Amino acid sequence: MVKICCIGAGYVGGPTMAVIALKCPDIEVVVVDISEPRIAAWNSDQLPIYEPGLDDVVKQCRGKNLFFSTDVEKHVAEADIVFVSVNTPTKTQGLGAGKAADLTYWESAARTIADVSKSDKIVVEKSTVPVKTAEAIEKILTHNSKGIKFQILSNPEFLAEGTAIEDLFLPDRVLIGGRETPEGQKAIQSLKSVYAHWVPEDRILTTNLWSAELSKLAANAFLAQRISSVNAMSALCEATGADVAEVSYAIGKDSRIGPKFLNASVGFGGSCFQKDILNLVYICECNGLPEVAEYWKQVIKINDHQKSRFVNRVVSSMFNTVSQKKIAILGFAFKKDTGDTRETPAIDVCKGLLGDKAVLSIYDPQVTEDQIQRDLIMKKFDWDHPLHLQPKSPKSSVKQVSIAWDAYEATKGAHGICILTEWEEFKTIDYKKIYDSMQKPAFVFDGRNVVNAEALREIGFIVYSIGKPLDAWLKDMPAIA
Ligand code: UDX
Ligand code: ADP
Repeated sequence: MVKICCIGAGYVGGPTMAVIALKCPDIEVVVVDISEPRIAAWNSDQLPIYEPGLDDVVKQCRGKNLFFSTDVEKHVAEADIVFVSVNTPTKTQGLGAGKAADLTYWESAARTIADVSKSDKIVVEKSTVPVKTAEAIEKILTHNSKGIKFQILSNPEFLAEGTAIEDLFLPDRVLIGGRETPEGQKAIQSLKSVYAHWVPEDRILTTNLWSAELSKLAANAFLAQRISSVNAMSALCEATGADVAEVSYAIGKDSRIGPKFLNASVGFGGSCFQKDILNLVYICECNGLPEVAEYWKQVIKINDHQKSRFVNRVVSSMFNTVSQKKIAILGFAFKKDTGDTRETPAIDVCKGLLGDKAVLSIYDPQVTEDQIQRDLIMKKFDWDHPLHLQPKSPKSSVKQVSIAWDAYEATKGAHGICILTEWEEFKTIDYKKIYDSMQKPAFVFDGRNVVNAEALREIGFIVYSIGKPLDAWLKDMPAIA
């Protein structure tokens, strides 16, 4: 029986290994992590991450050919294939701070593999890393190998949160990069045979190591660039009276452009887009390509601009001040169907409103109070470090912030509502009931274009939707630039 061990039981490692176990009953899969609470959660009925369909997959294989353990050394030693799926934060200090990837966790995982291995292994890079990381890891492994042979592969993960299980079941493609030597090609074939259990052969692409590593950064940069492009258009739509949804639909009908990833929003979030683009920018700078670096940096600048534009719109609409006004925040996760808040635009929007002394009442169906408080006091880029290194909450919680159990409680007595995640329930809640319980004039700022703005205007709300023709009220109070 082939044995797989995955180091890192996070958003990538957990779901990916669960699906491999489900689709490959002849393979034993063990997911290991240094975090005891995380492993305990994977072994319980309350999994550490919320992901539609995941519970079901885990229930079917856990205890049969899928295991979760903190005994990193034992399971790495026994494995034929070791996936590495640990966190790769952005450096906060030293060379490349604010841009380059901090590979501390990766290096430590690689050293563990070198230390405990007694047989030849294939080591698979699964977390997104800068180009040429595999080469560096190879050096650590070969210099510490005691004669054992390691083959490094890059097998970037393209799943998106909220649809992870679907994406893993039916991937657009699986990408495997490896050395062009006979040993490297053999390792590629071994990993290919794992995916071939359920992925059609023509969807399994093989490349050299660096192409695979760069493809992940490039894919995320292209996706994020589409969002920044449409968000840039949304500002122009508001200024001219065009409707961004109509523009997106019209351009998406061009088969060369396509309809996906053209939804204007308050900004993109998530653990990958910003981090990977910063990484790309840093790699370009290091390779003497400042113009290319500048080009990609702009994608992040527009994203930041979109978030501050939203805050400015809220403040300017409400007579240029939100001081001591209650604002309800509906949705805190970076997208629907996940409890993940990493780099969520809600953090910057809330911080912006708090900067203007607003009082916030936040509701999200999946995010805990503790997480929201931690996010609002955390420094930029600290989120990608293990929990014990992050500031504690609620001891140091933000006083002007309270957490509500539903949308009705959050909005009671509020002056305005900001919708920051596109949860389905925000389309169907009783806005009349909400309107009746709010201060007047009552505002809705829809950062995800989920509400029926006309219906809300009928009720009496003043409505702002990203990139849509403005209410007369908003036109009279142009957003501060
Ligand atoms: C992304 C990539 O899609 C995935 O392939 C990669 O493996 C990891 O990064 P993820 O961050 O989980 O996945 O979610 P994604 O669906 O890409 O959304 C990212 C952000 O963009 C979210 O905040 C989302 O709300 C926003 N978004 C997405 C928009 O604002 N508009 C869109 O049209 C699409
Ligand atoms: P991702 O979204 O890429 O999956 P996460 O942060 O959710 O990232 O998960 C990474 C996991 O890797 C964390 O649970 C962390 O505890 C674990 N981890 C980091 N370094 C090591 C290590 N050296 N050995 C085992 N687990 C590790």
